[in-house]
Amino acid sequence: MSLDYTFSIIKPDAFNAGKAGKIIGHLEAEGFKLTAARVILLTRRQAEEFYAVHRARPFYGELVEFMSSALCMPFVLQKTNAVNALRDAIGATDPAEAAEGTVRRLFAESKGRNAIHASDSDENAIRESRFFFAGSEVV
Ligand code: CMP
Repeated sequence: MSLDYTFSIIKPDAFNAGKAGKIIGHLEAEGFKLTAARVILLTRRQAEEFYAVHRARPFYGELVEFMSSALCMPFVLQKTNAVNALRDAIGATDPAEAAEGTVRRLFAESKGRNAIHASDSDENAIRESRFFFAGSEVV
C-alpha cells in the first residue's frame, strides 16, 4: 500500500512572484487536499540539510543559495497514491521538458528556479514532512 500523503514546497521563485495561491488551487482542482502548511525563510543550514542527498551534485551550492534566499511554503497534500500523483502533476524538473498543464510548465522559470519541490518516494515524503512539521500536524 502506498502512502496517501506527500510533501511539497512552493519554492522562493514562485512564492515571491505571488503564485502560491494559484499553484495550491491548481493542485486542489486535481484532487489533492491540503493538510498542513507554513511559510518560512529557510536558514542556509536548513537548506543544506534538507537537500543533503544532492551534496555531491554540481548545482548543490546554487540550490542551497536559492532555497534560503527568500520565503518558501512547505506543505503536505493528501491523495490516493500521493507521491506519484504529485510528481505527475508537477511535471519534469526542467519546465521546458514538463508536460502541458503541469505546475512546472505553467509556473516555473528554469531547471533551478522550478517553482515547486515534491518528494520522490514514500520514504522521503515521511522524512521531508517530519523535517518541517510535527507528527501531530501531518494528519
Ligand atoms: P527538486 O525537486 O527540489 O529537487 C532537487 C532540485 O535540484 C531540483 O528540484 C532542481 O530545482 C534542482 N536542480 C536539478 N538539476 C539542476 C540543475 N542542473 N541546475 C540547477 N538546479 C538543479
